[in-house]
Amino acid sequence: MLKIGAGASLRPFLAMDVAARASALQATRGPADPRVLRLEVGQPATGAPRAAVAAVQRALAAGTPLGYTDALGLHSLRARIAAHYRSFYAVPAQVPPDRIAVTTGASGGFLLAFLAAFDPGDRIALASPYYPPYVNILHALSLRAVVLPTGPDTRYQPTVAHLEAMAAGGQGLPDGLIVASPGNPAGTCLDADELAALARYCHASGIRLVSDEIYHGLNWDGPPATACALSDSAIIINSLSKYWSMTGWRVGWTVLPEDLVAPVLRLKQNLFISAPHVSQIAAEAAFDAGDEIAATLAGYRRARAHLLDALPAAGFRDLSPAQGAFYLYVDIGARSQDSVGFCARLLAEAGIAATPGVDFDAKRGHRHVRLSYCGPEADMVEAARRLAAFSG
Ligand SMILES: Cc1ncc(COP(=O)(O)O)c(C=O)c1O
Repeated sequence: MLKIGAGASLRPFLAMDVAARASALQATRGPADPRVLRLEVGQPATGAPRAAVAAVQRALAAGTPLGYTDALGLHSLRARIAAHYRSFYAVPAQVPPDRIAVTTGASGGFLLAFLAAFDPGDRIALASPYYPPYVNILHALSLRAVVLPTGPDTRYQPTVAHLEAMAAGGQGLPDGLIVASPGNPAGTCLDADELAALARYCHASGIRLVSDEIYHGLNWDGPPATACALSDSAIIINSLSKYWSMTGWRVGWTVLPEDLVAPVLRLKQNLFISAPHVSQIAAEAAFDAGDEIAATLAGYRRARAHLLDALPAAGFRDLSPAQGAFYLYVDIGARSQDSVGFCARLLAEAGIAATPGVDFDAKRGHRHVRLSYCGPEADMVEAARRLAAFSG
């Protein structure tokens, strides 16, 4: 038996397993049967903005050679991303294009950021429940995840008090901290003051802050704050996958602190060469698709409002504050302490695919499920109706 590296011994990403079962179930259904409703993955039902597709069509029709780009990305795209920081945020951030690296989605950004900033064995803190690949990528890179259990009292977000408690408890401060606001799965946010306090504390304590800002723009009760306006040492991760509905294009970016630009450039040249050229063309045009995106966001707002109204009436009363992203983290504890079994019954009996909370919180997620409401709006209305009738 040949050796397999320990870094490959990852936990599966259960949302993807549920998605595979939902697709298999749908394949057994005829045209007259009720459709399987897909609330398990965070994949917008809308495609890339029309302006992005049109830009790619123009480039292809013009015979633009699609080759490697500069390792950090097309200059014009990096300039466009820098302009985004000046126009998008209530507190604009001045970001020079040469601190921006275009990546293969946020996922590619994590790999570069973690490799550039940390050494094997370093301890990286993050709040649970969390987006599972954080911990899985850390594990693959021989970094150690330090999970900070959080609850409704801090809106499932980490605080300076969590870090202070680590230090006081003899564990010592971590080497890094990952935050996501809005976060996945709870859809909750750090407000600007809370993020600023974390950024200050991390900078002063030598903790590298990694701020996952992929759900920025999907903020339902106030504008987002970006860590790059608050810290000179934080790494910002972002992506076109969510707000711009471009999951399949695999394009995102990081804003790097000065000291990590050259390390990330070297890593990027060697690990990826560049992000896909075609996706970079699409991304640049997507930044000008404001009206189309506004219509998509209006649909999310309606779906969210409908579910927030209908779920308590259907007996699901304990929901995380749905401040952002397109998720509801639902406490099903009154009905079941086995979120995996609950989701299996929900799929089999009600035709609703949802993700068990254990994906996001191995210890406490047995009493939660995550519902994603970025699918077709009509499906969200139908899901609420089926949930009301579901007795499992
Ligand atoms: C919090 C969070 N970060 C990052 C990602 C990965 O995004 P990308 O498609 O840009 O790799 C996701 C995807 O669901 C996510 O929820």
